[in-house]
Amino acid sequence: MGIDTGIDFRLSEEHKSIRDAARDFAQTVLLPGVIERDIECRFPAEEVRKLGELGFMGMMVDPQYGGSGLDTLSYVLAIEEIAKVDASAAVVMSVNNSLVCYGLDKYGTEAQKEKYLKPLASGEKIGAFCLSEPEAGSDATSQRTTAEDQSDHYLVNGIKNWITNGGSAGIYLVIAQTHPELKHKGINVLIVEKGQKGFEIGRKEDKMGIRASDTHSLNFNDVTVPKENRIGEDGFGFKFAMSTLNGGRIGIAAQALGIAAGAFELSVKYARERKAFGKPIAEHQAIQFKLADMKTRIDAARWLVYKAAWDKDQGQSYVESAAMAKLYASEVAMWVTTEAVQIHGGYGYVREYHVERMMRDAKITQIYEGTSEIQKLVIAREILKYNFL
Ligand code: CAA
Repeated sequence: MGIDTGIDFRLSEEHKSIRDAARDFAQTVLLPGVIERDIECRFPAEEVRKLGELGFMGMMVDPQYGGSGLDTLSYVLAIEEIAKVDASAAVVMSVNNSLVCYGLDKYGTEAQKEKYLKPLASGEKIGAFCLSEPEAGSDATSQRTTAEDQSDHYLVNGIKNWITNGGSAGIYLVIAQTHPELKHKGINVLIVEKGQKGFEIGRKEDKMGIRASDTHSLNFNDVTVPKENRIGEDGFGFKFAMSTLNGGRIGIAAQALGIAAGAFELSVKYARERKAFGKPIAEHQAIQFKLADMKTRIDAARWLVYKAAWDKDQGQSYVESAAMAKLYASEVAMWVTTEAVQIHGGYGYVREYHVERMMRDAKITQIYEGTSEIQKLVIAREILKYNFL
């Protein structure tokens, strides 16, 4: 008799059916226009609306608030399948689910959930998470945007940069400094709606990858935000951002995993079909070695991503596992997509074969929601809390 390790790598039937539904959606709805959307930098508005109808925009939110009431593993499986085909759609979904919906669900008041979480979780509206600024990227405590306390409301002034869903969102979670003398403990997070006086959507970024996602700067000029739109206690904004980013990193890790797996699947197909020196290139050892290395790294990334999701679902700390999953999966995505272009040769360098887009898309996964260097910092800080004796 063996020892019961308690480890089961099999997916449940429910998890498989969620993965299959996402795969089917990606193949039938996202694949047909993915190249054109990338070329034209066109936001997948109709496709995202359909994602909402299928329950993919608020996957982990309680059905009471318009969500699907699923676990993090389900979410990761869905993002992976969407990102295999369309990394732009995957990031729209990821920010909405794991930064905006999660933040409101976990820390919002009942009234905030009724008013804002419901339309976000059902996909009726899209959310944006506004932390980054011209001078506050990795150094997120250095917020210059201010939320001045005016007794019954806040007056918001400042600029946010590189905001995913910046133009297409209806609801924005804005991080801003209220008590500069308290540094990160003086930061708040406020809910701002599109169309509010003084709130302008700024420049749209012309990006290297994830070109169909909509990345903007945002300008706030004396925007009045009622006190009831603050999430959590006064000064909770930085903790809110860090807490939601821990889960956000699982979503981006799943996106990176999907990009890698998508490029790998295309490479296997191509290697079987393409002939060189009288036989399919898949029969040449040079290609076999590449495929073996790609699959090994993808599987290693996959287990880190699923483990981080599992930690979150178990109610365990996932700060370290999320950062490890994001760090490794994003490196694998960059490496695998580069190899995928190499396997495709000249065809890999043109749009029609998809892998050049995947290589461009992969790069951002090493940058947003904390660069690779930030992930290493987060991991190291956790390691140094351990007592190994
Ligand atoms: N989880 C929970 N709490 C955390 C945390 C984490 N991962 N990291 C820090 N904190 C808490 C600390 O415990 C500390 O709390 P106390 O004051 O109560 O002790 C507080 O936050 C301040 O922490 P530090 O003193 O460690 O702050 P720091 O300035 O030295 O470093 C950092 C913090 C880890 C570098 C942080 O600034 C960081 O994560 N930076 C990266 C920011 C980022 O990921 N930006 C992405 C933008 S959003 C985005 O990309 C979305 C999109 O559009 C796709």
